[in-house]
Amino acid sequence: MLIREATEADLAGIMLIERSCFLNDAWSEEVMLSELRAPHTFYVVALAGDEIVGYAGLSKLGQSKQADIQTIATALSSRGKGIGRAMMQVLTSKAADLGAEEIFLEVRADNKVAQKLYEVFGFRKIGVRKKYYQPDNIDAFVMQTTLLRKDPLVLGIESSCDETGIGIVRGNQLLANVISSSMDKHAIFGGVVPEVAARAHLEALNPVLNEALEKANVSLDEIDAIAVTNGPGLAGALMVGIGAAKALSVATGKPIYAVNHLVGHVAADILANGKVETPTIALLVSGGHTSLLLVRDLLSDVTLLGETIDDAAGEAFDKVARVLGLSYPGGPEIDKAAMGGNPNAIRFPRGLTLPKDMLAHRYDFSFSGLKTAVARHVELAEINKEQINLADVAASFREAVVDVLVAKALAACQEFGINRLLLGGGVVANARLREVATSRCQEAGIDLRIPPFSLCTDNGAMIAVLGAQLISSGALPSGLDFSAESTLDVRIVQS
Ligand code: KG4
Ligand code: ZN
Repeated sequence: MLIREATEADLAGIMLIERSCFLNDAWSEEVMLSELRAPHTFYVVALAGDEIVGYAGLSKLGQSKQADIQTIATALSSRGKGIGRAMMQVLTSKAADLGAEEIFLEVRADNKVAQKLYEVFGFRKIGVRKKYYQPDNIDAFVMQTTLLRKDPLVLGIESSCDETGIGIVRGNQLLANVISSSMDKHAIFGGVVPEVAARAHLEALNPVLNEALEKANVSLDEIDAIAVTNGPGLAGALMVGIGAAKALSVATGKPIYAVNHLVGHVAADILANGKVETPTIALLVSGGHTSLLLVRDLLSDVTLLGETIDDAAGEAFDKVARVLGLSYPGGPEIDKAAMGGNPNAIRFPRGLTLPKDMLAHRYDFSFSGLKTAVARHVELAEINKEQINLADVAASFREAVVDVLVAKALAACQEFGINRLLLGGGVVANARLREVATSRCQEAGIDLRIPPFSLCTDNGAMIAVLGAQLISSGALPSGLDFSAESTLDVRIVQS
């Protein structure tokens, strides 16, 4: 099913449905045509193949802050497929785009199905027009909904891994970004322990929330909406953030938006650099993910081009650090150890870059072979009773990771003809990654964006700003039924 703006050429198809749906009080062809032509109206049709199966229209006059739903109808044979809901979604988001703050509509008092649909979109009955529908003598209910402001005040909750993050934004403006990391608690295990992370979230949530509200200088009452990560991530950790979001929503009556963590990483850039220019390639590299995304539209068109088939890039840093006797988290330790080292001293393998891999795994990553190669190198030295050159090993390992990350990201830019690259995730703190990405992007004429580190690692502000974007686009709240999705697909921006 496709929804597009209606044209005069759709008149015949629209009238067919109009007459079958509205019998006695159907609009005439002339009325419908003038509606389609009017400069202050916006009509859409829903198509199944070539056939028009629904239409809906909105009217909004010039500078007015109010819009009206003029009509909405779905062909009798196509009911129950969510077509009405989908068209309403398009109309409400159009109304928001046009600057409306309220939407009104009239509905037959005896049309309970339509009333239910409108209620989902937050419409409430505010009045009755007696015997409005003639000749049937049926009353009209007047319904109204308020669209959230253009710059909504959103509280974002992030708990997908080992960072408890609460961020507060007003539209694109960052007001607070408070993070409590349980990293220290995992250090003795050399990696994140899910149960430990979940417990730490539970302990950190309230203090982090209070600190964020204080920093932003707002009260819970003033918040327009709550956004929360519902995946991907550790199920137990996600559940803590989701539970908190639902509890806050029930207690305060604020709507919730359940959003995708990966898309949040991309959205973080809005807080640093303004609107995410699209299309863009985005490379997310952290302890939990190594994902290469093609973002044509942040809210509706994100494609996963590839991801790691084994360890994430940050995980590789952490594991190799352990092999080298360095502490957790490994990234900064290896950065330190690599100082003064020769990145070309040892030619470590570049995962999935051989011609045969480039066919099946063009944009995928693999770091486990690299990790094993470093371990072999260390073992061999031990067997031979030789000292490894730590700086050289660290620098060569880091070079191998960075080389593959940047090469694959740039290949995607080139192959999709996109001259923008956005980096996100904790591994972006890596000095060498920044250096190589900057110089290679410069050579290739690619505009590189790297948000500040505090927005690259997991945080609540990126979730809040993604929520704010959804609200401004007219997206509906998620309700209370969503759950933690540890393997949530990146294409699902909102659950
Ligand atoms: O984004 P993040 O804070 O949390 C996850 O979602 O995982 O990323 C943490 C990861 C860790 O694996 C850590 O070793 C890595 O980012 N990292 C680095 C550096 N700083 C942190 N990796 C390479 N170089 C760094 N300087
Ligand atoms: Zn992350």
